[in-house]
Amino acid sequence: MKIKAVIFDLDGVLLETDRYHYLAWKRVLEGYGKEFSEEDNELIKGVARSKSLEILLEMKGLRMSEVEKISVLRKKNNWYLEYAMLIDEEDVLPGVREFLELLKSYGLKTGIASTSDNSYVILELTGLMKYFDVLIDGYRVKEPKPNPEVYLVGASELKVKPEECAVFEDSRAGVLAAKRAGMKVIAVSDKPIAEADKRIDSLEGLDISILNFEA
Ligand code: BG6
Ligand code: MG
Repeated sequence: MKIKAVIFDLDGVLLETDRYHYLAWKRVLEGYGKEFSEEDNELIKGVARSKSLEILLEMKGLRMSEVEKISVLRKKNNWYLEYAMLIDEEDVLPGVREFLELLKSYGLKTGIASTSDNSYVILELTGLMKYFDVLIDGYRVKEPKPNPEVYLVGASELKVKPEECAVFEDSRAGVLAAKRAGMKVIAVSDKPIAEADKRIDSLEGLDISILNFEA
């Protein structure tokens, strides 16, 4: 099956905004006297905000009332935006724009599938929005990754079949979501993600052959 569309996760694939999510959660946990390592962070990478909090409470043995959870989630997002608002075009990761231009020169469709409610603002700040035919973000789906919904909606809006899509993802939750949608997945990660079809360190220097997959 020939690839007709390429769908990208945003945080950690096109930008290092995954770092800002990590720093904001770290600040939350430090407020409760808990440490939060990069290793801990792997378990919530790509996971929706409220689900991430549930995982962290369990991981750190903390309890919170529903009202406190709402307040913590708001605080986490404000801190995230405090860091993220400083980004601009220069923060787009190496090779990203070149690869997006290459895809367009081959007539491939492109989309973003992100769990983040902040995707639009990040794409605007970095000038990346113009490269994408569709944006499916946290506001557009009921079930976050690892549910396949965000990728299935992406394929449907791009008017291609899921099996005609290749996906770039940095988190295990995201890789699982795209595989469950029936897509080919390239992990952008320095650690292997078993369910992915391929793995790369970054988008720098990629050529179109990255979209060749055995049947
Ligand atoms: C994903 C990030 O893209 O979006 C997660 O990898 C984050 O870390 C999730 O929790 C939700 O994002 P937001 O911006 O709506 O809190
Ligand atoms: Mg990601």
